[in-house]
Order: sequence, then C-alpha cells, then structure tokens
Amino acid sequence: MNRSLQAGSLAVALSLSASARAVTILIQADQPGADINPAMWGIFFEDINFGADGGLCAELVKNRSFEFPDPLTGWSRISPSLARGRLSIRDDSPFNAANPHYLRIESEGPAPFGVANEGFRGMGVRQGEAYNFSARIRRTDGSAALRIELYGSDGTLLNSARLQEFSPDWKACNVVLHPKDTDAKARLYVLVDGKGAFDLDMVSLFPQKTWKDRPGGLRADMVQVLADLKPGFMRFPGGCIVEGTQLSGRYQWKKTLGPVEERPLLINRWNYEFLHRPAPDYFQSFGLGFFEFFQLCEDIGAQALPIVNCGMACQFNSAELCPMDALNPFIQDALDLVEFANGPITTEWGAKRAALGHPEPFNLKMLGVGNEQWGPQYIERYEKFSQALKQKYPEIKLIGAAGPDPGDDRFKFLWSKLRALNADIVDEHCYSQPAWFLANTHRYDTYDRNGPKVFMGEYAAQSVATLSTKNRNNLETAIAEAAYLTGLERNADVVRMASYAPLFAHVDAWQWTPDLIWVNNLAVLPTANYYVQQLFSRNRGDKVLPTDIKDEGSQTSGITGQASQLFASATRENASGEVILKVVNAANSAAKAEIKLKTTTAVAGRATIIVLTGASGAAMNSFDQPRNVAPVESIVQDASNAFRHTFPANSMTVMRLKGR
Ligand code: AHR
Repeated sequence: MNRSLQAGSLAVALSLSASARAVTILIQADQPGADINPAMWGIFFEDINFGADGGLCAELVKNRSFEFPDPLTGWSRISPSLARGRLSIRDDSPFNAANPHYLRIESEGPAPFGVANEGFRGMGVRQGEAYNFSARIRRTDGSAALRIELYGSDGTLLNSARLQEFSPDWKACNVVLHPKDTDAKARLYVLVDGKGAFDLDMVSLFPQKTWKDRPGGLRADMVQVLADLKPGFMRFPGGCIVEGTQLSGRYQWKKTLGPVEERPLLINRWNYEFLHRPAPDYFQSFGLGFFEFFQLCEDIGAQALPIVNCGMACQFNSAELCPMDALNPFIQDALDLVEFANGPITTEWGAKRAALGHPEPFNLKMLGVGNEQWGPQYIERYEKFSQALKQKYPEIKLIGAAGPDPGDDRFKFLWSKLRALNADIVDEHCYSQPAWFLANTHRYDTYDRNGPKVFMGEYAAQSVATLSTKNRNNLETAIAEAAYLTGLERNADVVRMASYAPLFAHVDAWQWTPDLIWVNNLAVLPTANYYVQQLFSRNRGDKVLPTDIKDEGSQTSGITGQASQLFASATRENASGEVILKVVNAANSAAKAEIKLKTTTAVAGRATIIVLTGASGAAMNSFDQPRNVAPVESIVQDASNAFRHTFPANSMTVMRLKGR
C-alpha cells in the first residue's frame, strides 16, 4: 500500500468531516461486565473449495486408490511413440477390500510406458524439500524396473528415481524425491521401464515437511495460518457435508478413522452442488479424518466442536429424513463420538482413540446436533439426541440449529422450540451484504439473557450477493464484519462463540466465495476478513467493558456502541490489566473521536495501536500483494483518560491502553 498517498487523502477527509462532529467513545473501565468466553472467536472448517483433499491434507496425488467412479480420473496414459502397453482397472485380489480397485500397467516396451497423476490442479513442490513417494505394488510379469518421475509444468524433469525390488504379492514400495526446482503445477509419473506388468494401489506423494512433520500429515502453511488466528474453537467437519445430499452421502465419522487405505471414499457434495462451478474431481478420501481433526484442534489450542448428522439430509437438496423409529444408530454415533473423544481407554471408543496414539482424552466440551436444519422434523430429532446425550453426558453442551437465515420464520420457530427444550446454544447463520452487518450491530442488545446462548456459527459479508461468484474478500466486507463483531463482543454474555465461513478456498478449485483464506498449491493468502478475525481473537480480553458512543451530529446517537458509521467495543484483559478498545470506522472518510475512559487509575500516555485499513473499501489482498490490507502496529504517546484520536476511513483499530 502507498502509505504517503493514504496519509494525504486521510488529511483531506479529516478536514471535511471530523471537525464538524463531536463524537465521544465512553468506556466504563471501572464497571467490568460479563466474562468473555475464552473460546469466543473460532474457526469453521468444511471440506468445500478443496479444503481437505487438495487443501489441508498434504497428499499430492489425486485419486490415489483408483476408487473414483471414473477410476482413471486424475491419471493419464504416458505412452511415448516407441512404447506399447495397456492400462486396466481391476478389483480381483485387491490390496484392501475397503477400497478394492487398483491399476494394472502392462508394458511391452521397449520405451517406458505408464501413467501420470495431475495432482489437485497440479502438485505444488519446492526445491530443497523432500517428497515421499509410496505405493502398494505387485509385480505380475517380467523383471522391469519402475521409474518414478516428477515433471514441472513446462515439462522439465524435476527428479527421478527407480524402484527395482518387487514381489508377486502386494508390497509397500517407497522412494524419496527431491525436486530441483519449485513448481506449483508439477506432475508425477509412474513408468514401467521396458517389458513387464505391475499392479498399483494407494499411490502417494507426500511432502516430508508437513505440520509437525507428521507422515501423511497436514499442509504446514495452511495449519500455521490457522494457528496464527489463535482460534478458541474449531467447528468441523461442516457445513452441508455433515448432511449429505442424501443420507447415504452424509459424513460418518467412524469411517474416517484408522489406516487411510481403509477409509472409504465419498463423493463430495460440492462436486456437483453448483452447476456453474462443477468440480467433477472433488471427492473425500478422508486423509483428514476425525482423529486428525481432534489432533489439529489440540495442536492449535482450539476446543473441538464436532457436528453430527441428526438423521436429516440437506434440506436444500433431498431433505431425506431418517424415520424416527430408525434414529438410534445416528444417536449412537453421537454417543460414541463423545466416548471416542473423552472416554477412558477401558471403553470401546476410548480404546480406539488410544490405539490411534492418543490415550489422553481430547476433552470435548460441546457437540453440534445437525448443521443447518429447520422445521418440526429437526426439532423432534434434536429432542431425541438431546435426551440421550444429556442423560449420558450432561456436561457436554449441545448446539442446536437455527436454519440458514438469521431472522425468517424458520429461525423464529427453531428459536422458540430450542428455548423450550433448554438447548445450551443455538447456531445462527448469516450470509448477507455488508449493509446487513452494519445495521445489525445491536442485534443482540435485546436478546433474552436467560435462554440459550448464541453461536454465530457461519457468517460472511457478501460483496455482491449470496452465492454470487463475483463476491470478493475486500476491505468493505471485512469492515462490515468487524463492526458486527463489536456488537457480538459487547454482548459476550449471550453470544458465546462466532466463526466466519467458509474457511479455505483453492484459487483453482473453489465452489463458494467469499472465503477467509485463499490458497494455491504453494502459498496461503489471508484476506482482509482474516485479519479482522485475528484482531478480535488475539485481542479478546476477559471482561466486557460497557462502551457507548455519542455523536452529536448523528441520528443514531445514543445507540450503545454505535455512532453513525463508527462502532466500538471494549474489554479488559486480566493478565495485562489492559483495556482493549476496538473501533471500526465504516465510513469512506476519517473520523475523529474523543476517547474517554472511566477508570480508578490514570491511563498511561504510551499505548499500542493496531490498524487495519486500505486505500478504499474495494482494497483486497492478492498473491502478488498479500499484505495490501493487513494490520499495522504502532505506538501512540498521547493516550490518557480523555484523548482525541482519528480513525482512518474504512478501518478497524485496536488500542491497548495501560494504566500508569
Ligand atoms: O459455508 C458454506 C455453506 O453454507 C455451509 O456448508 C452451509 O452450512 C451453509 O449453507
């Protein structure tokens, strides 16, 4: 960003607007209010936009076990002019019955003959890093060797290795590749070098460098960007993929445990959901399964928030229902999940957790029943789940669904029923334009304090319209969300958790926009919206401080926490004793305000401030300019119990004010 240019336009804007207004932000630091949930600001992961396969799961080979309906999806025949051979998909004497298909390559020579895998819109490989090739291989004829080769997008050979030791039975074969160049769209070749025949299954190329260097682990840069958010919780595995288009396609957590070759493949519902964004190669191979989800939560210090299917398929699709008298297996899955997470290792599911390498409990505290459900069918199913879960695990907080809209009839019906059923927490969703977020910063001021708490489980400001492919993660949307979050923070006694959605999107394979973090095969791109989440999460505080804005020139004067286009909330952080003030200026011009703190002690002059802004509401980050809209930290020297400060146009400011 051109800072000097920005400073110039800021001065002009100031002379036009701020001088005429008398805005006061009053923080009653001497009257701390509600405790803020330490897990208030979290993340919502769903396998959408290639979030898991081709995303967090660091596997580079797509369709590694030839189980896609078209078993050669992602694979192509490599047959130079002197090569002769055949490819066939078979399932007799498979390596693993759960995923029975495998590839037979029969080569007549003399030139190398075989297959190439395209990866997930290419394979991202880096010079200087090592990649583990592995496969289950059975030699069926001849004595030829296999050539394992990595080619760059321009056809350059990046590295090559030979495999020579085989057996007539399935055998694990491994070799390490070291690409000589970095390439975002490399391809992996498996070639029979001469005359011979082989069966191949579970063909894999994995970076050695994964998150915590776990073999078969997660993409380190993607996890790091999550860890950098310091999320209080992580909701998983979705989203609509919990529900499935039909119940047969629902997420079944038990099928995602154990050796990856035993995790059955599922078509991802986002494969075909949007005809305008088809992704025919999008499947769930569950390299990232429920054990890995719990482990990830633990790694990044987030409380786990799994969502289970409640016997309902997606109501935007088939709306298939599991009959009430057949619901028990679904409920049992939920009960077993709690046992898997928390049960002693003497229990059936606690023992399974221990066998996977985690004898200690995962300390699960909450569970979502259903994703984005609605109607009486949901309520009767929720009630059954609640009865069973509360009887066995009264300590687990249950989260009920409030449908896809934050205020329609479905929402009102669900809230009234969930209130009557004493649900612990209600999950509200909202995808709307920035104006909605700006207009609803006081939404929770009047919520009933005695009923269920609120989980703002999915939200994102849409720069154009919900489901528009033109939606962008620009500063305008980020600032609208920031304004809205001040309202959540001021009401942290009733709003206990919030998470933006969706979390990840691959630039070459997305179905839904906007998204919090964009990725390509080699890099991650936090958006302006990401930095808003990070500013709230890393500057959470422990107690709400009553905060009011008075704007003598505005009709909205007197609405707590809001004056025209200026929004504020404040908290106190116990460990540092600091007052953390967040001010959002959603106007296109700078705003000057007087900040007044009622405290028993004097405020120190020196204070840290962090500002997120950009050249205009349209400003965005890109892979070329990843920090075009990013927080900038500085020090002010003139803080006091009453001081003036100018908030830039389209900005979010965090001030950390200390006592003397
Ligand atoms: O976040 C994308 C989708 O939006 C989720 O899968 C669903 O819960 C909501 O409709």
